[in-house]
Amino acid sequence: MGRRCTGVVALIILLLSVASHGRELPVKKSDQSFVYNHTLAKTIVEYASAVYMSDLTALYTWTCSRCNDLTQGFEMRSLIVDVENCLQAFVGVAHNLNSIVVAIRGTQENSVQNWIEDLIWKQLDLSYPNMPNAKVHRGFFSSYNNTILRLAITSAVHKARKSYGDINVIVTGHSMGGAMASFCALDLAMKLGSDSVQLMTFGQPRVGNAAFASCFAKYVPNTIRVTHGHDIVPHLPPYFSFLPQLTYHHFPREVWVQDSKGNTTEQICDNSGEDPDCCRSVSMFSLSIQDHFTYLGVDMQADDWSTCRIIAAQSVKQFRKELTSNIITTKHNADISIVEPSVQTDWSSSR
Ligand SMILES: *[C@@H]1O[C@H](CO)[C@@H](O)[C@H](O)[C@H]1NC(C)=O
Ligand SMILES: *[C@@H]1O[C@H](CO)[C@@H](O)[C@H](O)[C@H]1NC(C)=O
Ligand SMILES: *[C@@H]1O[C@H](CO)[C@@H](O)[C@H](O)[C@H]1NC(C)=O
Repeated sequence: MGRRCTGVVALIILLLSVASHGRELPVKKSDQSFVYNHTLAKTIVEYASAVYMSDLTALYTWTCSRCNDLTQGFEMRSLIVDVENCLQAFVGVAHNLNSIVVAIRGTQENSVQNWIEDLIWKQLDLSYPNMPNAKVHRGFFSSYNNTILRLAITSAVHKARKSYGDINVIVTGHSMGGAMASFCALDLAMKLGSDSVQLMTFGQPRVGNAAFASCFAKYVPNTIRVTHGHDIVPHLPPYFSFLPQLTYHHFPREVWVQDSKGNTTEQICDNSGEDPDCCRSVSMFSLSIQDHFTYLGVDMQADDWSTCRIIAAQSVKQFRKELTSNIITTKHNADISIVEPSVQTDWSSSR
């Protein structure tokens, strides 16, 4: 780690060690909510990993190197790429889960470390619409709400439900992708009903305050927030237990995965969102970036570390070529939404 990072880590340690001496929010420990399903998590994490792939053709045709194993047979319905904002997502049908899967990519930059450092300073600078006292980070919210993601995802979900009946929707993402996935799941749950939407994120940062977290838990009760070992990202932006109403606050339910000597344990945490016995119990001195990049044994990084725009621009160009030559004429019947700085293309192919 460079000098800048060391300084920042020292600051976090200071802030969080102060926080850990504070009072805890009173926590209701009633556990009537739905059960964590390990098999399902193993499958969902593979979708969250696949959405990082930069070869759009392989992703679109579900032939990428991460597009196999438990996700075999996935029916791609919509591939969404926003070159300017460096966003990527897909929507499709996982027939073995009888569900629609929405996956949103995390930060795809060679400077994930800078991104993580910046998380410390994120302000709660936006009042979430129609939720009293709920505040969120404007940047996280806008990446979903004010880009192509919201419109493209909701319309793809709507079309898939028209074709397959009102099957459930599972929304996933890792890191920043998990933050956007949270807003997406909330948006879909408000439209389709809480019973139809499930959220499972991996290593996501906090996105809002306590009022937001408790509203979120009502709308999207079927939420699992997986954290891994010493991953630093779920600890950011900071939560201060002595200022529970003023700082960021996770929504439930965390599942904390730890590896110890070849054994993996999964701890189901309480429904406070900030269980002191889960990842918050890790000493601030041993938080790491390393644990951010593997979840349930699956690689959660971009496969190419050039800057996002270069990759996206190149792969969009290549993709267009292959699209016109052979993809459309073969088996595919999906929507594609690509936003480039100057042009917007949004078209549907058909058999
Ligand atoms: C867990 O999820 C899998 C699908 O991945 C499903 O087949 C299984 O029935 C689920 N188990 C429980 C206990 O719900
Ligand atoms: C979210 O998106 C909707 C629809 O595009 C827009 O009307 C609204 O102003 C956005 N909300 C915020 C807070 O930016
Ligand atoms: C690994 O997990 C198993 C089952 O939970 C337990 O019995 C065993 O003692 C653990 N081994 C180590 C080395 O922790």
